Amino acid sequence: MIIVIANQKGGCGKTTTAVNLAGALAARGKDVILVDSDPQGSALKWRSLSESDFPVPVVSLPKPVLDQELPQLARKYEYVIADTPPGMEDITRSALVCADLAIVPMQPSPLDLWSGTDIIGLVRKAEILNPDLKVVLLLNRKIQGTRLGRESLDALKEFPFDVLKTEIHQRVILAEAILHGQTVTQVDPDSPSALEFFSLSLEIVPEEQAHEATAQPERSH
Ligand SMILES: Nc1ncnc2c1ncn2[C@@H]1O[C@H](COP(=O)(O)OP(=O)(O)OP(=O)(O)O)[C@@H](O)[C@H]1O
Ligand SMILES: [Mg+2]
Repeated sequence: MIIVIANQKGGCGKTTTAVNLAGALAARGKDVILVDSDPQGSALKWRSLSESDFPVPVVSLPKPVLDQELPQLARKYEYVIADTPPGMEDITRSALVCADLAIVPMQPSPLDLWSGTDIIGLVRKAEILNPDLKVVLLLNRKIQGTRLGRESLDALKEFPFDVLKTEIHQRVILAEAILHGQTVTQVDPDSPSALEFFSLSLEIVPEEQAHEATAQPERSH
């Protein structure tokens, strides 16, 4: 499955989402690779600060050739998560044309919501080549109990995409995790932030039913 994290708007939480979603999936035992397609190399820098093992492999592919490269990786890994750069339409479009799912992080600020319409145009272009592309919005940096948070959620519902039930709140641990080159799950798997990313991972990749546990043993006659 190819999951692309995209939004033309800078600083909305693409890299934070890509790294921590990859970390949550890896912690659940899934086979994940993270692709950094941002020429700034933020995800790569994040991993380079790690003193211990980073939970997922990270590769750098900052070129508009992701439509060829991501499907190749998807043959080897169960989940390919691609972080994309802000503003660089050609790179993001090349990822969207081969994605199964695009997650669009949005901050609860009117400026971010207004510029969020840029991604609609880009998705529409990608859909010409990838009509099955599913796009979902993720509210990031929500501040608990604020009117802005609630109103932003209403504003997100105006977009022509589904809104994920999971919301990522504004929390210092998410910024601190970067300083240690760790995912938030590594810093503290029981923290509210880590639980939000687990919840996000489960919303996207539900846990398979444990058929074995409920299956009746075959009788021998
Ligand atoms: N939920 C959050 N709580 C606290 N800090 C956050 C949260 N989400 C993102 N940040 C911080 O906001 C900044 C921007 O986040 P991030 O780099 O993930 O955004 P981006 O969309 O990848 O940016 P760019 O467009 O430049 O690639 C970072 O310093 C990050 O630590
Ligand atoms: Mg980034």
